[in-house]
Amino acid sequence: MRAAPSSIVAFDAAYDRSTFDCGSGPLNRYLREQVTQDIRRRIAACFVALAGGRSVAGYYTLSTASVPLADLPSDITCKLPRYAAVPAVRMGRLAIDQAFKGQGLGGALLYDALRRAARSEIAAFALVVDAKDDQAAAFYRHHGFMELSASSLALFLPLATVR
Ligand SMILES: CC(C)(COP(=O)(O)OP(=O)(O)OC[C@H]1O[C@@H](n2cnc3c(N)ncnc32)[C@H](O)[C@@H]1OP(=O)(O)O)[C@@H](O)C(=O)NCCC(=O)NCCS
Repeated sequence: MRAAPSSIVAFDAAYDRSTFDCGSGPLNRYLREQVTQDIRRRIAACFVALAGGRSVAGYYTLSTASVPLADLPSDITCKLPRYAAVPAVRMGRLAIDQAFKGQGLGGALLYDALRRAARSEIAAFALVVDAKDDQAAAFYRHHGFMELSASSLALFLPLATVR
């Protein structure tokens, strides 16, 4: 039996990622092989849920982004200035180890990402995500995310609703 995740902290290369398996090869490989470089190059920040003190049970990444105003629904753009695009934070990846799925950890990591983006001193209008498939998009819609017009897999949540 695996220990229940107890904390969400910034990624550290010392944490154990060797057995992490969320069921998606690209998301597993990213955590094992790519994330350290992306953090060093300031391409992405990564936060992890730890189980047993040092084993990664789930992770997500955050980077800056920009959303063309034309991709947002008109009931939202009518309240925004007429800029070509608005600033956003992109959650590029979110993944939970299969041993911990269905226990609220995905929701907890999503909430942590929204809270982190909403309390940043650098302004962003929304958290945006690129869901990897329809099932992932359904997870985000369940949490109140809305579709951007560019694709049904691109979704956003205004950060003012989080604060
Ligand atoms: C999608 C994923 C992150 C969900 O994580 P999880 O820990 O299993 O989800 P949780 O247990 O936190 O679920 C939280 C809520 O979301 C709901 N939910 C979970 N998966 C869902 C889905 N695919 N569609 C709709 N709702 C979903 C749960 O029913 C729960 O609802 P509740 O709070 O009302 O009870 C996880 O399954 C995963 O890592 N999948 C593989 C990678 C992936 O698809 N990443 C998505 C980004 S590309």
